[in-house]
Amino acid sequence: MSASTPAGRRQIHLAAHFPGVNSTTVWRDPGSRSQIDFSSFQHLARTAERGRFDFFFLAEGLRLRERKGRIHDLDVVGRPESLTVLNALAAVTEHLGLAATVNATFNEPYELARRFATLDHLSGGRAAWNIVTSSDAFTGENFRRGGYLDRADRYTRAAEFVEVARALWDSWPSGGTPRTVRHSGPQFDITARATLPHSPQVHPVLIQAGDSDEGREFAARTADIVFSRHGTPEAGRTFHADVKGRLARYGRTPDQLKILPAATVVLGDSEADAQERAAHIRRQQVSPQTAIATLENVWGRDLTGYDPDGPLPDVEPVPDGELAQGWAHMADRFGIAARWRSLAEEKHLSIRELAVELTARQSFIGTPASVAAAMDEHVQTDAADGFILVPHLTPGGLDEFVDRVVPLLQERGVLRTEYQGRTLRDHLGLPAPRQEESA
Ligand SMILES: Cc1cc2nc3c(=O)[nH]c(=O)nc-3n(C[C@H](O)[C@H](O)[C@H](O)COP(=O)(O)O)c2cc1C
Repeated sequence: MSASTPAGRRQIHLAAHFPGVNSTTVWRDPGSRSQIDFSSFQHLARTAERGRFDFFFLAEGLRLRERKGRIHDLDVVGRPESLTVLNALAAVTEHLGLAATVNATFNEPYELARRFATLDHLSGGRAAWNIVTSSDAFTGENFRRGGYLDRADRYTRAAEFVEVARALWDSWPSGGTPRTVRHSGPQFDITARATLPHSPQVHPVLIQAGDSDEGREFAARTADIVFSRHGTPEAGRTFHADVKGRLARYGRTPDQLKILPAATVVLGDSEADAQERAAHIRRQQVSPQTAIATLENVWGRDLTGYDPDGPLPDVEPVPDGELAQGWAHMADRFGIAARWRSLAEEKHLSIRELAVELTARQSFIGTPASVAAAMDEHVQTDAADGFILVPHLTPGGLDEFVDRVVPLLQERGVLRTEYQGRTLRDHLGLPAPRQEESA
């Protein structure tokens, strides 16, 4: 499928992020249902397919967020393993891409290449892998290796990981016999034969989600999609230009990499109605425990004695405080605390109101018509190639979007009314993977 309509308007790529344990999900809302029950995954996936989305997306957290022996309130619901869920979804969807976030720091390439090839076979070519590296020191404690790798080492390992996985995917042509893959590098020393012939896409679609210079370079060299945090038009355009500008170095063209920022949508019957709903959702997203935890990440000390609806703590941060695992190396705690204090004073904010202010991530607020127009504008002006929509409710959080905004995008000619191809690469308009590198 081409990237543009005959009239020259670029197509919007949409993905559905299953709302899991993050600061967006309001799982105590009466409209929320289970985040584990298969019916929830099925509901969101089928909604996305009804809206002709490109793919369904699962994030990954390999450890519960524990603090002072307690599990953070958003995590008590738990989270199943992604590839298992996606294999089950392959059976109840027909066209939708199925993307799993899986860590390259704590897994092994032989096993993971095999599992993604299996998903690609079972789904008829709809698998995608979001390659993450994990910045959490405490996640490493769950694994034999222990600890965690420095950023540079994480991307070194990820690059070699993907190289080995690619060699395995390429090594057994359909109708042929498997070649032996021999790889000897600093991270992996492997002599292996793949257990499966070429899957429909040969390589699953590769997604990257890190934001550092190393992460962007890795994306330019390796990824088909970048999952970005840069959702505003200005930040989106800067990011878009930066990452797409790196592609030529690897012999790639700008349309071979799709940049999809995370985005949230709040709809209303009028602009005022939408703003009111947005404010209500933001407050629901930040529980008292989340508000205190947000500050403890910076203060590095126990703040549970403070009233979430009261003023900011009068004590100073602890320089090397390590209350929140994974934030152990935060630089400039004092500077951040000072900035947060002056913001709270200026706007008369309580701890919870400040946390709401800091974590609010609503990208599109408005009527269905104004949201459709704004999304279209983003894509036509190179702020994004589409969006990974992160609803705040499980599993019905995209129902309204699909019912009310999707038809308007289709009327504008920027969203397909029917799927044209079979595979996720077809939906994304991506070329076949380059196999010569690892063959
Ligand atoms: C939009 C976005 C989504 C991410 N999602 C996940 C995730 O689901 N699981 C995970 O372990 N890491 C996730 N990460 C973390 C990255 O994989 C990476 O470990 C982290 O951003 C540090 O790398 P960087 O310094 O290049 O940004 C995400 C990062 C970004 C920017």
